[in-house]
Amino acid sequence: MTAASTPAFATPAQSQDSESGSVQPIIRVRGLVNRFGEQVVHDGLDLDVLPGEILGVVGGSGTGKSVLMRSIIGLRTPDAGEIEVLGVDARSQAPDDRLHIERNTGVLFQDGALFSSLTVGENVQVPLREHHPDLPDSLRYELALLKVKLAGLEADALNKLPSQLSGGMRKRAGLARALALDPPLLFLDEPTAGLDPIGAAAFDKLTRTLQQALGLTVFLITHDLDTLYAICDRVAVIADRKVIAVATLAELEQLDHPWVQEYFNGPRGRAARSGASDRRMSAVNPGSTREEA
Ligand SMILES: Nc1ncnc2c1ncn2[C@@H]1O[C@H](COP(=O)(O)OP(=O)(O)O)[C@@H](O)[C@H]1O
Ligand SMILES: [Mg+2]
Repeated sequence: MTAASTPAFATPAQSQDSESGSVQPIIRVRGLVNRFGEQVVHDGLDLDVLPGEILGVVGGSGTGKSVLMRSIIGLRTPDAGEIEVLGVDARSQAPDDRLHIERNTGVLFQDGALFSSLTVGENVQVPLREHHPDLPDSLRYELALLKVKLAGLEADALNKLPSQLSGGMRKRAGLARALALDPPLLFLDEPTAGLDPIGAAAFDKLTRTLQQALGLTVFLITHDLDTLYAICDRVAVIADRKVIAVATLAELEQLDHPWVQEYFNGPRGRAARSGASDRRMSAVNPGSTREEA
């Protein structure tokens, strides 16, 4: 796939900030404000997502996780604040900037959001048709087949309608579509919600495998503690209309905040932690360059 004219994100050499030696974030949010009428969802939210990491995003229901994602990908214009994603301003309406973000991000929405009247193959081809209209049909078909297989589905899923698939297969089909344009940055909104524990663990494993094989950065909204412990490099906690902490799970477990304590040190948190060493899917820390930097 041809990349947009601007680089997807800075190369390691470019992204080194020569003064501080720190790595440039792939997503940088500062002072974000989102309101719906009287309701203030975000009030001065800051967040950095680093290249090559799986960042878990957690918070109680209705704390604004999905609204944050929509703001970052430019589907919602925030009321205030700055968002830079892949080197461009997420609020920009300039066609080149919109195209740059669209081509370099894949999104699996909370409800899957597949077109119900299209087959899986046709769904996966939607972004290819939109962004690469000159591709011959046969090549588009081959690419869709490749993505479907990459997402762990059998080739025969290509000709099925979303309604003919199980919940887990629908998530995989959504993932195949999100990966259609080979984006370096992937957004997953509650990908394991509604899956049974085995299906959820399999999806986690797929996410980790693809992230490592393709070098993805993943913004992963979840309330699934098993997912956090199995695959996330760092976790951002949304509470009190802000990101109150971004840290490793070991660090978060120590944080003195009522929601964090209840979530991580309640019975479910303890159970997830005790099973974590078995499930931890990678000894490799793909974000390790940031520590070396
Ligand atoms: N389009 C909208 N219009 C009005 N309120 C909204 C809209 N989208 C989200 N909200 C409200 O913003 C809050 C945060 O929503 P959301 O980001 O979806 O929460 P979650 O953290 O569960 O993903 C919720 O109270 C929700 O009702
Ligand atoms: Mg949500």
